[in-house]
Amino acid sequence: MADMLDWTGASLENLDMAAFEARADEMAARLVEETGAGRLPFLSMPYAAALKEDLAQLKDFIKAFDHMLLLGIGGSALGARALQQAFFPQQGQPGHSGPCLWIADNVDAYALEAYLAKLPPEKTVVVTVSKSGGTIETVGQYFILKEWMHRRLGDAWSEHMLLVTDEKQGFLRAEAGKYGITTLPVPDNLGGRYSVLSAVGLIPALFLGMDIDALMAGAQEVATPLADPKLTGEELAAHGSFQLAAWGAALLEKGFDEMIFFAYIPLWAKFGDWFAQLWAESLGKEGRGSQPIPAVGVTDQHSVNQMFMDGLRNKACLFLTCPSLPAGPKFPMDLPDQFAYVRGRDFGDLLQAEALGTRMALSDSGVPLVELLMGDDGPRQAGKLIALLGAATIMTGWLMGINPLDQPAVELGKRLAKARMNADGLTEEKASLNAFLTA
Ligand code: PA5
Repeated sequence: MADMLDWTGASLENLDMAAFEARADEMAARLVEETGAGRLPFLSMPYAAALKEDLAQLKDFIKAFDHMLLLGIGGSALGARALQQAFFPQQGQPGHSGPCLWIADNVDAYALEAYLAKLPPEKTVVVTVSKSGGTIETVGQYFILKEWMHRRLGDAWSEHMLLVTDEKQGFLRAEAGKYGITTLPVPDNLGGRYSVLSAVGLIPALFLGMDIDALMAGAQEVATPLADPKLTGEELAAHGSFQLAAWGAALLEKGFDEMIFFAYIPLWAKFGDWFAQLWAESLGKEGRGSQPIPAVGVTDQHSVNQMFMDGLRNKACLFLTCPSLPAGPKFPMDLPDQFAYVRGRDFGDLLQAEALGTRMALSDSGVPLVELLMGDDGPRQAGKLIALLGAATIMTGWLMGINPLDQPAVELGKRLAKARMNADGLTEEKASLNAFLTA
């Protein structure tokens, strides 16, 4: 796994990494304690075997549909979208005939109406994903789709529904019991942004035809050593996730409070959005943390990269590359002399040259940078990346002295929105809203 990280340009000489590296024993002990108490299912994946069985049983059910409409928001949607774009980019393109996944993750009347107008209900399964089972953006869409299915299919509506939610509680869990809707659990203590390797991300991935065993195997390769009850500080110190965490925490000490995620695997661009949620929601606490900035190469070289290179010197960068991407077409040999340097070269060569050029230029401009080097662009590598960044995020939070697993500020926004819609209770929120509106 160490081969996934290239530290050239990480600016280690300017950072006090040692202060954080010295805490490897403490962090190892904490990992052992937290995984032992079942509070880190993201790493220990105690649910993996049962999930595999559930998915095997569900395979025929979901494969019977041509369309899957996923309703979810935040961590209940971003992982699925990243996997979809990375591995099934042909969906929605001319000539595509395979299964189609549609993700509704916003209160967007235009998009929802377009789905209702175009999707054939008899060929569609609606997957509602909500760990809490009460997120109004998601449950609201569920109500509309439930009514739509019922109107179009009568009593068969519930056979076109799948709920992914908390095992025991919440509104959706109650719905499942009431109407006999097929469900899969989101395991206890697995928060949205850490849940892509549970049913949350794997149901849509399975529907699309992804090799989910490879995805899980990659994640387990990275995560399993961290969930070992005998993990030592020395072993942790050699693990890339801890090294990234020590780097992330040391950067903050020196005022680097923005973290670019620059993806030079164009199809993996949506991992930038997934990472942004993971990093921001986990680490933006108590007036601290670094702001994630998703960017994609080479497109963003010609836009925000100016700011990365020559703006405020507060940015660091995770730079995602893969040297073995498809070569693509060759440039013709009869190009004008001014472009002679690309004659006969592959299109992919240009991408790799641009990646190298930007990596070096960023580094020379004083942007501390770690390269995340993918051996290939398959699902196993994606699983490794997800586990590596998730574990690094958790430990960065611990090294900062904050809780990387909660999201109190997001919860406040949700409560205020409910108060605005005049939900029961929420007296305090209603009072502060009134004060805000009348100030
Ligand atoms: O990471 C998180 O916990 C959040 O982004 C949630 O995923 C998001 O708020 C949706 O929550 P839920 O899955 O409970 O509907």
